[in-house]
This record gives sequence, structure tokens and C-alpha cells, in this order.
Amino acid sequence: MRRGVAGLNETLIGARGGRTRLETPALVLDADAFEANLQALTGMARAAGLGLRPHAKSHKCAAIAKRQMDAGALGIACAKTGELLALFEAGIQELMLTAPVVSRRKIDRLTEAAARGAEITVVVDHPTQIADYAASAREAGVRLAVLVECDVGQRRTGVAKPEAAVALARQIAEQDSLVFAGVQGYAGFVQHVFDHEARRAENRQAMGRLLAIVNALDEAGLPPAIVTGGGTGSHLLDLEDKVLTEVQAGSYVFMDEDYRRVDLHGSGADVFGTALFVVVTVIAHNLHGDAIVDAGTKSFAVDGPLPRAYLDGREIGTITFVGDEFGRLETAPGKPAPALGTRLECTVPHCDPTANLHDFLHVVRADRLEDIWPIEARGLSD
Ligand SMILES: Cc1ncc(COP(=O)(O)O)c(C=O)c1O
Repeated sequence: MRRGVAGLNETLIGARGGRTRLETPALVLDADAFEANLQALTGMARAAGLGLRPHAKSHKCAAIAKRQMDAGALGIACAKTGELLALFEAGIQELMLTAPVVSRRKIDRLTEAAARGAEITVVVDHPTQIADYAASAREAGVRLAVLVECDVGQRRTGVAKPEAAVALARQIAEQDSLVFAGVQGYAGFVQHVFDHEARRAENRQAMGRLLAIVNALDEAGLPPAIVTGGGTGSHLLDLEDKVLTEVQAGSYVFMDEDYRRVDLHGSGADVFGTALFVVVTVIAHNLHGDAIVDAGTKSFAVDGPLPRAYLDGREIGTITFVGDEFGRLETAPGKPAPALGTRLECTVPHCDPTANLHDFLHVVRADRLEDIWPIEARGLSD
């Protein structure tokens, strides 16, 4: 039996009306919206002739990664070694680690996975990381694909100067156990710029910095086969600009309140639908008559606008947090609070850290609970 409410909910799989009878708090994936999001980005990337390497930091779930691969993704991007290894153990083989690692023991875990069949690509931004990856790969008897991590304005990781990128690329290419595979330039600071034209201008600048590095590598005889980066916020701009060879969007599968504020295509339209919800239950009415629900900051990440609550598909208010385990439904004045036991489907402020709080995704379609998927890499931020 599955842990927590998923163990209670598994008896509902396939039953009519199961969606409205879930034990809660339950993280829910709307299968129709999820599949539409998957198809939408796949179609746009295909039309632009670019690859997709969806980022699993948003979902941490092998069942979703598998569907992204089945839709033609080049591989799956992961933020941390723990996330990558959990997805490998769950059957995903083509994996890219998008953050540098400075621990030799973590690097050994990666090369051990490569020796067991994982096709792993990593990023580096310092010579010692190259030396560690090279030694570890040699000892494990594997060859690792390595990208140079470039800082395109994020001020987080990566080298900014073309000469520095060329020097690292050369050092990688000199190692028998490594293959120089290209560069990564992720412009995280661009993704959530609300206005489309302002975001376009910032992305152009960031990608201009990356293009200067790509040109320097070309001139040095080290042309980067992979130029990876981008996200949900910049996907259209990346597909238009074509500095990147592939886009690493993550949140597009779920969407959240934070991304709803971003005008993704400059048309004001919702390009991707909301597919992720936390279902909560009204468990009390307080002395003012407000509905209190059974989910707080242990069920929702709170670094974003408040969740919107839906009852039978109708938006009825927002949830404010009144504790780790409790929320309060805020409705328009005079509206009666829903009865005890009422289920509300709530959008999430920020999808990535919300998925990280839950063991399972309840997959719903129309009025049914279709399946329950484990979130294998949840909690793994190592
Ligand atoms: C390196 C990298 N690539 C891609 C993404 C995906 O971004 P998004 O969820 O905005 O699509 C992230 C998100 O933080 C990231 O850190």
C-alpha cells in the first residue's frame, strides 16, 4: 500500500466520481491539461527545428519524464545528483545534470550510474571539476559528455568570458575519459519578466553573451554540438532566436500562479494550461464563518501568489495560509462557506517546490482518478 493519503486513494482508481472523493491534501495532475502542455511545447520546438530537454526539477517524477521522452525529448535535465540518480533508478537513461558538482563522492555516484548504462551529460565551470570527472570516469571505465557552464547574466554559476570557456573546453577535450559536448547558458533571471517585449530584450542580451562564447569556441576549433538553456518563460524567444540548440523548459508541464503572470507569447493568452493542483478539504468553520482547509505551508510552497480555489470547476476564492497544516478560504463578502467535507482544487503558487513536498501525484481525468504516480526524486536536493 502507498504511503499517506495515496494509500487511501488507490481504491478510487478508475471509479466514477473518484476525483471528488480524494482524501487530502493530495497533489493532483489534470491529465488533459498536462498532455496538452506536453504537445504544445513539443509542437513548437519541432516546428522551430530545436530540441527539447525538459527540466525534471519541476516534477521530479519518472512517469512524467517518460512521457516527455516518448514525446521526442532528447533527454531529461536534472538540477542535482540525487534527482538524477533517483530518475535513473526509476528507468530514465538520458540525463543531463545542469549544475556543477564539487564533491568527488557525488561525482563517483554519477560515473557508477554511467557504468550501469546511464547516458549522463554534466556541466563544469572550474578546472578541478574537470580533473575530478576525468579521474572518476576513467576509474569507472566510462566516457562522460561534459558541457562548459556559462554565466549569461544570472550571476550564479558558470564562466562569463569567451576565453575562459575556450580554456575549459580545451581541458575537457584533452581528457580521454571525457567528451567536450558543448555549452549551457541558462538565463533564469529572464524567465519571470512579465512583459513579453521586456523579456525578449533581456533574453536577446543573455543569448548574445552565449553567442559570443559559441563563436569563440568555433574559432578555437571546438564547436559546441549542444547549446542548452532556456525555460518556460523564454521558450518562444529561444525558439525564434536559435542560439540554443535545445530548450530546458520545466514548469510548462504544470504551470503555477507565478508563471500565470508572465505573458508568454505577448498575446495575453494562456499558452499552457494549469495542470497542477492541491486538493484540500474543508475541515472547520471558524468563529467568523470562514472555511478552514486541511493544507498549509507543508502542502504548498508559498513563494508565489496565493492559490486560487475551485469548487466543481468554478473559482470561488483564494487560500491564505494560517499555519503549516491549515489554510483559510477567502471568498467575496457574504458568500457562504462551503460545507464541512467539501473538496476544493487549488492552484499552486510555485510548482517546483510544491511537487517537492509530496510523495505522489494523483492523475485525474474528467471525474475519475486515473492513476497515482510516485514522485521519485521528491526531497532530493543533494
Ligand atoms: C538550469 C535550468 N534550466 C531550466 C530550468 C527550467 O525553468 P522553468 O521551470 O522556468 O521552465 C531551470 C529552472 O530553474 C533551471 O535552473
